[in-house]
Amino acid sequence: MRHEHLVTAKQLSRDDVEAVLDRAAEIAANPAAVRERHADKLLGLLFFEPSTRTKMSFETAIKRLGGDVVDMGSVDSSSVKKGESLADTVRVIEGYADALVLRHPQEGSARMASEFVDVPLVNAGDGAGHHPTQTLLDLYTMREAADGLDDLTVGIMGDLKYGRTVHSLANVLTNFDARQHFVSPESLKLPRSVRYDLHEAGAKVRQHTDLETILPELDVLYVTRIQRERFPDENEYRAIAGEYQIDADTLEQASDDLVVMHPLPRVDEIAPEIDETDYAHYFEQAHNGVPVRMALLDMLLENARGDEE
Ligand code: NCD
Repeated sequence: MRHEHLVTAKQLSRDDVEAVLDRAAEIAANPAAVRERHADKLLGLLFFEPSTRTKMSFETAIKRLGGDVVDMGSVDSSSVKKGESLADTVRVIEGYADALVLRHPQEGSARMASEFVDVPLVNAGDGAGHHPTQTLLDLYTMREAADGLDDLTVGIMGDLKYGRTVHSLANVLTNFDARQHFVSPESLKLPRSVRYDLHEAGAKVRQHTDLETILPELDVLYVTRIQRERFPDENEYRAIAGEYQIDADTLEQASDDLVVMHPLPRVDEIAPEIDETDYAHYFEQAHNGVPVRMALLDMLLENARGDEE
């Protein structure tokens, strides 16, 4: 992989994805080999939106590579409260850290911020835009659970409009020629820009308003949360909340090998009774965030070192 920054999943070619996933698998098999690999490195965490998994797994990843974090902390306790611009914030923090991870509510913020810094910047979610590292760990999980990434039929269900994990995943799946079935209420369909990307990539895509008809065909079902915080009107959210849930009854029509995934956090999209079944892969998916982010950081920090020399 030869990128300075990772700001959108659209950057990720099939070769890039395979390189990161192969490296992640190597690291997962032998974590001791990389324990001191980036011993002197600091990762700057700039999270302008809530996060549990993404932030903690980046922190775990750099620490397991021997490095450490410098964390801006919450927006309330930072200079952002005083009106500092994002461009200024990242320019300051790049002086403290060897790489930056940014999560921000505004779509396009990661691309903009990356233009102001020389250290590698990773987008950990820009509003309803992209979340490329989530896609890498999604694909790592899919590759392991569904025995490879070729010839897959993938259902993606829930909030396709505001769900950034969906936008990233749908884009990258086109590199693997997957058949993609999108299931959502009419009002939460994929945004036009993503449909355009998929069309341009010649993707095999169909859209549905209910899961029933296509469930038996699916190898993977990727369920997502309705992104309440991105609805301009709370009533609109309430009108759809609670639809598009799956439980043991729903899955009676599914193949025995169906892989159920979810980027988490879940609200009520997947009934807890599914957690103990062989369908459930979402907790392992979250755990895979560590080796995948270790692999990515390792590669970006190595590239940056190469550029310095
Ligand atoms: C996702 C996100 O932040 O987009 N969470 C995550 O990083 N695993 C999904 C979500 O919030 O629904």
